[in-house]
Amino acid sequence: MIAVSEFKPGLEGVPATLSSISCVDGQQGILEYRGIRIEELAEKSSFLEVAYLLIWGKLPIKEELDSFKHEIQSHRRIKYRIRDMMKCFPETGHPMDALQTSAAALGLFYARRALDDPQYIRKAAVRLLAKIPTMVAAFQMMRKGNDPIQPRDDLDYSANFLYMLNEREPDPLAARIFDVCLTLHAEHTINASTFSAMVTASTLTDPYAVVASAVGTLAGPLHGGANEEVLVMLEEIGSVGNVRPYLDQLIANKAKIMGFGHRVYKVKDPRATVLQQLAEQLFEKFGRDEYYEIALELETAVEERLGHKGIYPNVDFYSGLVYRKLGIPEDLFTPVFAIARVAGWLAHWKEQLGKNRIFRPTQIYTGSHEEPYIPIERRAVSLERVRVDSLEQHLERNGK
Ligand code: SDX
Repeated sequence: MIAVSEFKPGLEGVPATLSSISCVDGQQGILEYRGIRIEELAEKSSFLEVAYLLIWGKLPIKEELDSFKHEIQSHRRIKYRIRDMMKCFPETGHPMDALQTSAAALGLFYARRALDDPQYIRKAAVRLLAKIPTMVAAFQMMRKGNDPIQPRDDLDYSANFLYMLNEREPDPLAARIFDVCLTLHAEHTINASTFSAMVTASTLTDPYAVVASAVGTLAGPLHGGANEEVLVMLEEIGSVGNVRPYLDQLIANKAKIMGFGHRVYKVKDPRATVLQQLAEQLFEKFGRDEYYEIALELETAVEERLGHKGIYPNVDFYSGLVYRKLGIPEDLFTPVFAIARVAGWLAHWKEQLGKNRIFRPTQIYTGSHEEPYIPIERRAVSLERVRVDSLEQHLERNGK
């Protein structure tokens, strides 16, 4: 008999796997990818090099990186049938739903499953890393009534994505900062969407279904969807002077403050610190954002009121301000998160396949036993129905 004390809501603190991909020290505010500190990767590496490091476990030599980049470049385009399918999506649909649908659709075109073949693993990883940005940008253009913009082979990964969003070549600083954002968002141990990816991977389904599962999970406001909600909150606050009254109201309502708190970090998320530096670089070159002062004041106020509970900015708090300055629409913030996290999802997919055991946890049953089957004509109206109907209505309805 399993003791109730063994039940951990949200599996908090329960190890779900053995992994060497990344490591988080929530007390010290440290994040490492394959043992390398995130701050060093943000400064010295690139997103595709980081994706290679996460998936294959080592920094590539120049020939390996060049070949990987070339393969990604060669697979950026999407099938016209997927484009045609996306043209049927409602313009009002959320881009994360469009991405989840189109990511799953890839499985229709690449149905072969050879999960024990390293070449198959590599090809699937290349296709997903290459095509996800194209699908995000394609939906953006289509929902404005325009044809999608074809990828440009002369632009690198991040510059090409920004180009496909609005057919303008990005400023080199903007492209570099966007690439660093992808590195910062690429991986983060067993977060909800990565756990979804692992559970789906453990049934030995195809990698496109694995990524589609993860995209659906990332979309929630308690996870990747928070970055979009942060901007909504800053816009609602409207001024530095309104920060504390607004915060007091949130706390009084026991509402979660978007962009703050973390299951693991009990200090400021190291990614938030780097994102703040990136935001300030952009503001220096392209002009300050009025919401930045509000964000700074909110960070101070939350630390005063909730710092003792370990509530500090997480990765989603400043990322939206960077993306806004890069000209990315607010409801594309989470799809951008997904573009980056595909690298981490693929790394965990590959790691799971290396030592697979299907996920099937247990439960503690709290229901009843030995209940009789009651024929429909003898079933009393359930208490819920009576509580909803007034007694008089119930007697009138049932004639007794
Ligand atoms: C991401 O897991 C990952 O690594 C995720 C991520 C990644 O890279 O994949 O880092 C990306 O998802 C970042 C998180 C983005 N989400 C948000 O910003 C939404 C707001 N944050 C919260 O919903 C919350 O902090 C979570 C969901 C992120 C974590 O919640 P936990 O660990 O389940 O914490 P909890 O809800 O159990 O709260 C513990 C206490 C509670 O107070 P008490 O009831 O004990 O008095 O802290 C409070 C909570 O009320 N609390 C908050 C809060 N987060 C926690 N109070 C106000 N605002 C918040 N944001």
